[in-house]
Parts: sequence; C-alpha cells; structure tokens
Amino acid sequence: MARKIILDLDTGIDDALALAYALGSPELDLIGVTGTYGNVLVDTGVRNALAILELFGRPDVPVFAGPPHASDRDGFEVLEISEFIHGTNGIGEAVLPEPTGQVQKEGAVDFLLRSVRDHGDDLVIVPTGPSTTIAAAVEADDTFAENVHIIMMGGALSVPGNVRPWAEANINQDPAATDLLFRRAHDVTMIGLDVTLQTLLTTEHTAKWRELGTPGGDFLADATDYYITAYETTAPHLGGCGLHDPLAVAVAVDPTLVDLFHTNLKVDTEGETRGRTIADETRLNDPVKTAHVALGVDAERFLGEFMTRLTRIAENT
Ligand code: BDR
Ligand code: CA
Repeated sequence: MARKIILDLDTGIDDALALAYALGSPELDLIGVTGTYGNVLVDTGVRNALAILELFGRPDVPVFAGPPHASDRDGFEVLEISEFIHGTNGIGEAVLPEPTGQVQKEGAVDFLLRSVRDHGDDLVIVPTGPSTTIAAAVEADDTFAENVHIIMMGGALSVPGNVRPWAEANINQDPAATDLLFRRAHDVTMIGLDVTLQTLLTTEHTAKWRELGTPGGDFLADATDYYITAYETTAPHLGGCGLHDPLAVAVAVDPTLVDLFHTNLKVDTEGETRGRTIADETRLNDPVKTAHVALGVDAERFLGEFMTRLTRIAENT
C-alpha cells in the first residue's frame, strides 16, 4: 500500500522538484499540499503548487494555505537572497499557465490536524519550508505532536548555515517554530544541509529533461537551470545545485538513502547563533530520542532515483 504523504512547501524551485518527486513515486499517495511563506509569499507558493500539479496532470490533489508569516512577526517580505536563488515568481521566472484550480477553504493547520487524526502511522508530513504551519498544529492539539511522523528539510548539525553562519534558510525564517517542533514532536527526521549539499544537480542532468521536448521537461529544465546559475554565484565550490527538498521526499520513500544520528534537538532562538539547530543539552541523557538527523547519504543512488522519477513524469506531459 502506498504511504500517505502531505508536503508543506514554500514553492520555490527545489520545492517544485520535491513535489515532482512525490508525483513520480508510486510508493507515495500525495493526499494534499500545504503552502507556506519562505522562498515566496504564501499566495505565490500556493499558486505555484496548483500550477505544477496541473502541469503534471494531478489537479485532484488539494492545496491548503498556511499562515503568511511567523507568529512572532507582523508580516513577511521575501529576502533578497531567496529572490536571487528562486526568482521573483519562485520558479526561476519559468512561465506556467495560470492554474484553474483554487486553494481549499479549509486552512493548512486544520488539514494537518485532521489528517493525523484520520491516518496516524500511515501518514508522513514533509515540511520543506519554515516550520510555522506545523508548529501551529503542534500548539493546537497535544495528540498531534504524539502521533505525527515528520521528515523535514531544514537545519544543519555538522556544517555551517547557508543564510547566516549558524542558520539554514528554513530555520532562519522562524527559529521559535522549529524549536517548538523539536521539543514537542515525538518523531522528527531532519534532512539538513549536512546531506542535501552532497546531492548536486548540474546542467548535464537538466539537458536530459530539455531533450524530452515536453511542457513538463521544459519547465523542470528552465526552473532548475535558473537555480543552478544562482548556485554558481552563492556556492561555486559545489559545482551544482543542492537538491534539498527532493531529498526529504526521497527519504519518505526509502529511509535507507541516509544514515541517521539519533538525538534530541533544539534551536537557538536569540543572539548570534539564532537559527542554529543543535542537540538539547538538557535532554542529552534522555534514553528516548525524538530527532533523527541525517549525516550520511548515498548521493549516487538518490540522484539516479531522482532523475528516473522526474524524467518519467515529465515525459507524460
Ligand atoms: C531550503 O531553503 C529554501 O530556499 C529551499 O527551498 C530549501 O527548502 C534550503 O536551505
Ligand atoms: Ca523549500
């Protein structure tokens, strides 16, 4: 039976690739997408998710909108660095038809709460943006934190941050939300920069999508080439772009892609190290470990899976 999955996306380019990975995985049953702010405003992210679902022939997947900003902030503006990496429209200025589908009336938090109640252990939630929405669900209902299974993209345990010396981009947007998640949720797998910066895509890969000559192939190639070009400026030492968000979805399909370190995590919420993900010293000797941090990845096997799955769905558009 396919594993039920919800993606919580700030649809950006690698979020779009994560969505495509889920759609290309018969092992997964995508029951919904929740949209958050981050790479883009929440409305832009929702629009991108709807447009991508339509492009790949899945307008049946419902999309829900989450809160538009962190709960300890009054608003949200897209950071310059996010715009540089993902473009002003979040998908590298690639052009997709305006979606015909609409965002759901039910809010993202209510959808998450209802889904965990209905599906329990059969469901995994994969947040690939700030933790604001999922933390709101944790706060709303104690049983959510006890029963939810999360595989999140965010954080960095053994490597520096990517937006500030200590902070990874998703955690940086709402450190208090991720801190709450780490302290309260019983099962969180962290797919951070430790592993995602080992999974790199180049224009040799995207050329294969362009050769397909399909709308899906063109979209994947256009958006990802924009992202690769940005990486040439922000992280030239890598020689490609980081496949952050798709790796989290891949781990939901196949946990053996990564090696996990089991611990209890917290996030620094103030001062110079604000946004740092680190082991919680007060729970160091607690025999129960609620966080599972990926520190190793079979990058070659993942890249093979990634290309196979995305090429397959792009062929059929
Ligand atoms: C994360 O930040 C966002 O820009 C990406 O979509 C990814 O989720 C990488 O640090
Ligand atoms: Ca993201």
